[in-house]
Amino acid sequence: MKNKIFSGVQPTGTVTLGNYIGAFKQFTELQDEYDCIFCIVDQHAITMPQDRLELRKNIKALAALYLAVGIDPEKVTLFIQSEVPAHAQAGWMLQCVSTIGELERMTQYKDKSAKNTSVLAGLLTYPPLMAADILLYQTNIVPVGDDQKQHIELTRDLAERFNRKYNDIFTIPDIRIPKNGARIMSLQDPTKKMSKSDPNKKAIITLLDELKTIEKKIKSAVTDSEGIVRYDPVNKPGVANLLTIEAALTGESIDDLVSKYAGSGYGDFKASVAQAVTKHLAPIQERYKALLDSDELDKILDNGAEKANLLANKTIRKMENAMGLGRERK
Ligand code: TYM
Repeated sequence: MKNKIFSGVQPTGTVTLGNYIGAFKQFTELQDEYDCIFCIVDQHAITMPQDRLELRKNIKALAALYLAVGIDPEKVTLFIQSEVPAHAQAGWMLQCVSTIGELERMTQYKDKSAKNTSVLAGLLTYPPLMAADILLYQTNIVPVGDDQKQHIELTRDLAERFNRKYNDIFTIPDIRIPKNGARIMSLQDPTKKMSKSDPNKKAIITLLDELKTIEKKIKSAVTDSEGIVRYDPVNKPGVANLLTIEAALTGESIDDLVSKYAGSGYGDFKASVAQAVTKHLAPIQERYKALLDSDELDKILDNGAEKANLLANKTIRKMENAMGLGRERK
């Protein structure tokens, strides 16, 4: 049997080049070798305020984007989290093996709650729901960007705790982060992660930005005054970030790129990075436009939900049995 992969992306509108390199690109590379399940995690999105019409639109758009980047629905299961009620059920059970202390220590919770006066309870209990997503499918590997490390560690802890306390039912998942591009940085402040919630739109490249806009954003990316293209993430984070982006998209090694740019100034360097990005994204944007209005999407999502429900409900039964919920079923 093939090893299982699970991962999810939030349908919060903007999908950045960071999301692409950290997550989607890995997904497309893994789909032949593994049994892959990919999810549009809409229940995670409502841990922050959402407009209902926008959210619905974003869910469909994200489904189209999954396919546009090259996810093959014949090979993978693609579904929407809220269409598989087992996620909320398992999320609740896993909340009942989590402590408030450990949830309050999660950096994502600390960051997001610090920015808001009225903090939703769902923001605190986000990690057990994410653990549920992963554990319901007996996942072996979770491909994500570097920012999800702490969540995956908690998922492993909760699975081990549940296995010890109740019954040994969960596979303990491993994280997989890309070699190049586990953390793509902001173009305007390369010491910070490229984040879709950044108010400065020049700092992020979205997959659906106009190609001309992408070029402009890369040309105005913050670098340094040395004028030499070399890879030094500590002292030259802007240049290192652009090298990482080009390496991730072209498959060339950073060393080869550095040799290629020996003697080049930042102007040529940036133009060449911009070309690599636009060349990579142009066909994705074409496919995306065609898919968004096709009937294909609904069929794929229905089919995905059906498969996911079957698998997830098996685990729910095991969890309920282990915890003594409901009645004994023969
Ligand atoms: P989300 O929706 O914020 O991001 C989706 C994926 O993109 C990666 N990513 C990045 N990678 C590299 N550089 C960046 N600047 C960058 N920004 C984002 C993220 O690491 C992620 O892999 N909690 C998750 C969604 C989730 C999930 C799951 C993931 C819910 N349940 C189960 C895996 C398994 C999140 O908010 O990702």
